[in-house]
Amino acid sequence: MKIKIFSEDLRIGMYVSELDLPWIESPFLFQGFSLKDDELIQQVQATCKYVYVDTEKTPFEVKPRLATIAASAQKPVQKKKPKPTKIDFTDTVTLKKAKFDISAFTENLIHARKTRDKTRSYIDTMLDEAKMGRVVDTQKAKELVAELASNIATSVDASMWLTQLKNRDEYTAIHSLNVCVLSLTFGRALKLPEDELNELGLGALLHDIGKMRVPLKVLNKPGKLTDDEFEIMKSHPGMGYELVRKDKNLSQEVLNIVRSHHERINGQGYPDKLTEQGISYLTKIVTITDVYDAITSDRVYHDGMTPHDAMQRLYEWMPNNFDKDLVQIFIRTLGIYPIGSVVELKTGHIGLVVKLNEAHRMKPVIMLIMNRDREFYPRRKLVNLASSIWEKRSGRPEIKRILDPKEFNIDIKKIIDEESLG
Ligand SMILES: [Fe+2]
Repeated sequence: MKIKIFSEDLRIGMYVSELDLPWIESPFLFQGFSLKDDELIQQVQATCKYVYVDTEKTPFEVKPRLATIAASAQKPVQKKKPKPTKIDFTDTVTLKKAKFDISAFTENLIHARKTRDKTRSYIDTMLDEAKMGRVVDTQKAKELVAELASNIATSVDASMWLTQLKNRDEYTAIHSLNVCVLSLTFGRALKLPEDELNELGLGALLHDIGKMRVPLKVLNKPGKLTDDEFEIMKSHPGMGYELVRKDKNLSQEVLNIVRSHHERINGQGYPDKLTEQGISYLTKIVTITDVYDAITSDRVYHDGMTPHDAMQRLYEWMPNNFDKDLVQIFIRTLGIYPIGSVVELKTGHIGLVVKLNEAHRMKPVIMLIMNRDREFYPRRKLVNLASSIWEKRSGRPEIKRILDPKEFNIDIKKIIDEESLG
């Protein structure tokens, strides 16, 4: 049960499930949290007049003040029954009125896919060369990073959506590509100058090159590594550094990323046990995007998390592992409903988040994939939840919750392939 509580009555241990303002406008990163200390209580008090406390998630009995009860009694909260929607989601006129340019979206997606596939085949060659201890063509890598960066500048959404293209069996290649795209996107959000952005992208693309020197039986082991095997695995940043350190095309910054992307701010990382001051800014960025992509990917031995769960995990790990400011900006950049998330609308329809609306982060553009009877649409439609068209109609489509795609057998890779291969 939720109880309305004045902020001045909050106590440590209470579980805040709702604020008196939209979460997106609040300084809090997640919806729902436990009040762990006085500092957090003060932050809530500075932001909200009242909040809603979840009594089931609070380990003691919560009683609202009489004044709160009286205030609530004066203005009874009318629980409206959701009206059946009148929106025809398959109506193309609606889409036009939703002021969302579908042809531009598709065009950007197809273009971004071409660059992605080109980079992908370059990475395959690069990793093969590295496997045999040969010199890698980093000039080509530079050109591809510049092309990826330019696609992100044109349509960050298309590039980000394509990072959902993952494959359990070709992890290292796809991971390298995704960490590159995620880092470039993050770097742009941080307003890095162009030369640093290119160094960041190049370092991210090459970061795991040393894995090609790790024996396959360790690299692809379908299970937990033994201590000895883990030691071998931990040698990959150093071996990667040895592979590329003499390359005149690569700056010291790029080499830092290859060598130090497993360092952690508490000094418990590897190979050099660097601490916060010793890890470069660009490397700190890649430590975050590397972990984010790793935990959202399906591996031989585990299924990937949803983007939302992954962000929560990053936040939990932040104090010991990552730069605090960078993690918070990364989470805000990805948004509450990150691109690629599968969401259920209040209308019962299911869709994918394909584009964020800068001004309305809670109302992204959704690609509808299932109707309310949970049947797949033969032709997918895009709906802009931020469009003013919905204000004039009942049954405004809003996001109800994020779903795990496996819950409804949704094959994201297949959908992206169908939409992006022209
Ligand atoms: Fe690595």
